[in-house]
Amino acid sequence: MNKKITLPLTGEFPALERRFGGRKMIYLDSACTALKMKSAAEAQKEFLLDLGGCGGKRSSHALARAVEEKYTAARSAAAEFVGAASPGEIIFTSGTTETVNIFAGAFPFTPAKNEVILSPLEHNSVFLPFYNLSKTGKIKLRVMPLKDLKPDLDAFGRMLNKKTALVAATRASNFTGGVTEFGKMAAMARAAGAAVFADDAQYAPTHPVLAQESGADALAFSGHKLGAPFGIGVLWIRDGMLARLKHFKVGGGVVKKVDFSGRGFKVEYLGDYQGFEAGIQNYAGAIGLAKAFETLKAVGPEAVRAHMIKLSRHAFAALAGFRQIKILGEPGDLERGALLSFVPVKGAFAPADLNIFLNNYLKDRFVAIRTGRHCADLASLLSGIGETARISFFIHTSKGDIDAFVEALDKYLSFL
Ligand SMILES: Cc1ncc(COP(=O)(O)O)c(C=O)c1O
Repeated sequence: MNKKITLPLTGEFPALERRFGGRKMIYLDSACTALKMKSAAEAQKEFLLDLGGCGGKRSSHALARAVEEKYTAARSAAAEFVGAASPGEIIFTSGTTETVNIFAGAFPFTPAKNEVILSPLEHNSVFLPFYNLSKTGKIKLRVMPLKDLKPDLDAFGRMLNKKTALVAATRASNFTGGVTEFGKMAAMARAAGAAVFADDAQYAPTHPVLAQESGADALAFSGHKLGAPFGIGVLWIRDGMLARLKHFKVGGGVVKKVDFSGRGFKVEYLGDYQGFEAGIQNYAGAIGLAKAFETLKAVGPEAVRAHMIKLSRHAFAALAGFRQIKILGEPGDLERGALLSFVPVKGAFAPADLNIFLNNYLKDRFVAIRTGRHCADLASLLSGIGETARISFFIHTSKGDIDAFVEALDKYLSFL
């Protein structure tokens, strides 16, 4: 697909055409999961049917070779999408959650260098794997304080020390919107001799990833948030970091040699990404993901960003007029992300009730948004903000979708 695509792109998202009891859907919940792209679903279907859903290189017959070829192409597409130095830096996983669990288990902590510092905006999928490790005594877990809903970088500077092994931070928060000062955090961490991990679950779908320039040693994101199927994700690891990792998730496909001698078994793992993709792979997912990358490439990362800026500005301007809500974050920051969160002023309403209204009380439509703590318990607890209402955007989102939400919000607030 080489032709230039303009936004909003709705043709790739058949779910937008569906009617629910005659009602149209306004989908503003892409940060939870994006609607799936038709081309990605069709690529999966083709793999499952025409290629029989066969496995790749474990077998060497022609069907397995055809699958392996597509899997290899998907790895190259992922490398191009993230801006990796080579496809060998890409490890396919089932998503961000699995990736962080693998990375936390594989990271070479030592008793002398065992501190992990997290940004306070981390999703539970980043917080909990390190929290669990800290409970075993293997690491010491520290969380940067939150200041004005952002990681407090002065405090972070004071927390860094020679025992800091790893700093993990999201590049785009799913709680507050906008992007973080990731580049600064990464530079500070590296200067202190720590490795850096980026949670790009919210960043990758609507930003040029530019992994090599990011300051991270590793980053992760989930395919389902960019229009690809569930169960596939990417772990990018900078060359040099991969060799330092332990083989945490093991099984078939990662072994170069298993030996037995009088002293017992000895296992030698395959080098590069091959030593980290244990078990039969999610070929269907990777092939679908490659298609989603293809669509995003045809749109162009700069065009995606420009569209998100337009939508964020539009949403901010429209929502700022409601005195019963407070938008988290500033407009200049928010337009660098792809979502807006807000809270009721003085308990004017419960976000969960707004959700019920948006789903059940509009005549010809329903508006899909997300309310709650968004699995960002650290930020929620540290800020004292309980539940928020969140609207989030992707490449099919239009200003009209936002207007439909604003109109519904207005109805709800006057209905109170
Ligand atoms: C910032 C962030 N990190 C991580 C995750 C976890 O992603 P997944 O559930 O796809 O593994 C999410 C999902 O909402 C997220 O928003």
